[in-house]
Amino acid sequence: MTEQTLAIIKPDAVRRNLIGEIIRRIEAAGLRVAAARLLHLTKTAAEGFYAVHRERPFFASLTAFMSSGPVMVMVLEGDGAIVSWRTLMGATDPAKADAGTIRKDLGLGVEQNATHGSDAPETARTEIAYFFSALDLVHRE
Ligand code: RTP
Ligand code: MG
Repeated sequence: MTEQTLAIIKPDAVRRNLIGEIIRRIEAAGLRVAAARLLHLTKTAAEGFYAVHRERPFFASLTAFMSSGPVMVMVLEGDGAIVSWRTLMGATDPAKADAGTIRKDLGLGVEQNATHGSDAPETARTEIAYFFSALDLVHRE
């Protein structure tokens, strides 16, 4: 089933010039970029995006990190895109991620782990709407 998911190339990866390498892996896996934008989140915008984590001990550190430099936000589209993108990223902690995944190969640690991906259809919908309007999305075969 064709799905859409939200991907973010996090500040640690943008800073290390890894945008191209990450998009290369996305396209090699058969996912299509349906929308993309480079932006620098304010602390408030990062807090809004990660609101589900507001009670977690890492919330302040995570939102400081996510607003520490530019990020690339993207909508990825393809068959089973939500799980495909999570599989390509690997486990949250690069030390525990499978070989060949983005986080294993490019992540710096459990927080600075290079990328974000929506974890379910409902979160994909709300996360995409956080950054993009319907007019921003292209559809292609
Ligand atoms: P994401 O939402 O960014 O795709 O990552 P995820 O689902 O694999 O992990 P999640 O539990 O949703 O955590 C969101 C982000 O918070 C940071 N984190 N830090 N210090 C820690 O123990 C810790 N745990 C999570 C990571 O940047 C993680 O991706
Ligand atoms: Mg998550």
